[in-house]
Formats: sequence, C-alpha cells, structure tokens
Amino acid sequence: MKTRITELFGIEHPIIQGGMHYVGFAELAAAVSNAGGLGIITALTQPSAEALADEIAKCNDMTDKPFGVNLTFLPVVNAPDYEGMVKAIIDGGVKVVETAGNNPQQVLPALQGAGIKVIHKCTAVRHALKAQRIGCDAVSVDGFECGGHPGEDDIPNMILLPRAADELDIPFVSSGGQADARSLVASLAMGAEGMNMGTRFIATKEAPVHQNVKDAIVAASELDTRLVMRPLRNTERVLTNSAVEKLLEIEKEKGADLQFTDVIEQVAGVYPKIMLEGTMDAGAWSCGMVAGLINDIPTCKELIDGIMADADALINERLAGLQAA
Ligand SMILES: Cc1cc2nc3c(=O)[nH]c(=O)nc-3n(C[C@H](O)[C@H](O)[C@H](O)COP(=O)(O)O)c2cc1C
Repeated sequence: MKTRITELFGIEHPIIQGGMHYVGFAELAAAVSNAGGLGIITALTQPSAEALADEIAKCNDMTDKPFGVNLTFLPVVNAPDYEGMVKAIIDGGVKVVETAGNNPQQVLPALQGAGIKVIHKCTAVRHALKAQRIGCDAVSVDGFECGGHPGEDDIPNMILLPRAADELDIPFVSSGGQADARSLVASLAMGAEGMNMGTRFIATKEAPVHQNVKDAIVAASELDTRLVMRPLRNTERVLTNSAVEKLLEIEKEKGADLQFTDVIEQVAGVYPKIMLEGTMDAGAWSCGMVAGLINDIPTCKELIDGIMADADALINERLAGLQAA
C-alpha cells in the first residue's frame, strides 16, 4: 500500500510501532521494520546517550530497513541529555524521530538538518496544528482510547481523526485503539495515511518483555483499563491491577490536594519490574483499551502481513461489494 506516510518514511506498509518505555528496544524496532513497518526505539528507556547510541547500533545490525527513535519531552526538573541523544540519533543514521510530550521545536533544526523526518505525537487538533506550524513532517494523532497519556480533552478517534483531516495539510497517522485491518481501513477512511500501534505490538513474539505482560494483555478486556493521575493533569491510561486500585483510592482520598509524591510508589520506577521481571502488580503501566481486541501473540511479520491481507479483502471485497449491491 502506498500512502503519504509510506512515501515519507520509505516503508512498505503504513504501520508504525509507537515508542514505549521498556518495550521499545532494538529487538522490537528491528522486527517491525523487517516486517515492512516502522519500528521505533524509545530513547528515554536508555540510561544515557551512549547507551542509546549502542541500542541504535544494535538495531542497525538487525535490520537494513528504516527505523525510528522516540524522544519524549517530559516536564521534569532534571532534563535528560536530549542534546547527546539527538547526536546519537544523527550519528547512528536514524531516518525518523517520533517526538511526544512537550513541543519538540528545540530539536527540529538539528534533526531535520541531518535529513531526519520528524513525526510528532499529539492528542489534540490544536497541538497537531502547532506541530505543523513549527515544521514537523507529520503527526501521529493519539485518541482518548490510547495506552499511555491521552491528554486531558478526552476526544476519541472517531471525532479526532476527521477533525485532524479537516485542519491539517501535513500527513498524519491514527494512534490509540488501533489493532487490525479494520482499524487501518477505518483510519484511512477518516483521512489518516496509516496507523500507529502501541499495546498491540507488546503482544508479539519479538517484544522483549516478560511473558506475563503479553499474557495480561491477551487476558484483558476493553473494560480493564483505568485513567490515573487525572488530578495532576498528567492522565495516563493503564491496565488495572492492585497497585492501580490503591492509586485510585489515594486519589479519591486526597481529592484536589493530590501531589505527585502521594502516588510515587505506584508510578515511579515500576517499568523494569513489570516489563523485565513480570511482576504484574508492581505498579501502573500504560495499556490501551485495545487490549480487548488482542487475543493472540503473533510475530511482527505475521501481525503486519495479516493486517495488510485483511485490509485488502476489506477494501476490495466487503466495501467494494457494498457499493456494487
Ligand atoms: C507500555 C507503554 C509505554 C509507552 N511509553 C511511551 C513513551 O515512553 N513515549 C511515548 O511517546 N509514548 C509511549 N506510549 C504510547 C505509545 O507510543 C502509543 O502512542 C500508544 O500506545 C497508542 O495507543 P494503543 O496502545 O491503543 O495502540 C506507551 C504506550 C504503552 C502501552
């Protein structure tokens, strides 16, 4: 399939694997890229710019297809070494950067000057327009369904995507709640040029996370996610577990007085315990409502090939058939 996104990134299929903390390692990024999509390494999971350079080198050894790096800009006191990370990305010959969180303006000149395409992930049309205005090459439009941080507007993709299509000139992909060929075809119908998936890619053979994480996604239904940290205006969609229920109790008790320190035990430093050790109740971890659509653990190639074959049938048989009737 050819879209403005496949052309922009030089990939075969319009399917992107979003950056994911403690999931987006070289193994997953390379598997997605080798399957014809765009795999993405998550920069901030790496402890330093040097470690990121090593992870990029490892990915380069595992694939000769384009892959990307996610740079998430967080509102933190001690900012990570973004300058060093940008240098590692440029020196590593990375073709695409997915930015997320705060405005990525500070890194655009260096990245784009090195010929790197930048796709900014955002949860509101106004933020997508800002990304377009500052010169991003594309945007990833992340609806309320998404795993991770859906923002504070709560607009699902059935509204957000057509709104983005009405306003944007640069190409965009859908993100949040995307799982299969139905997601892809619907996204294309609403004006997107492809789709970005997070949770779906965790439940794949190559995702380098503990089997318990994959099994938890397969076992979960669409009713099993919760929104946490809303009172802090840092809303995150996570899979429910005992730590999340405790966190929600604390939020209820503290009300408007909630501070980050009140929930630090449930959210800080929990990713390695969950993703690497499989201690599923260690804390809150991002997961999308789309878990309700995930029932298997295929390889990335099986997943992507299946989506593209089913999309072909959906467009050329079901939809074309409706028109002929
Ligand atoms: C476990 C997990 C960790 C994530 N970590 C990040 C991250 O560090 N940076 C980021 O920009 N997005 C992160 N995301 C969001 C994904 O890149 C993607 O936008 C989101 O998962 C899309 O929604 P879906 O899960 O419904 O597919 C994360 C998502 C998950 C599920």
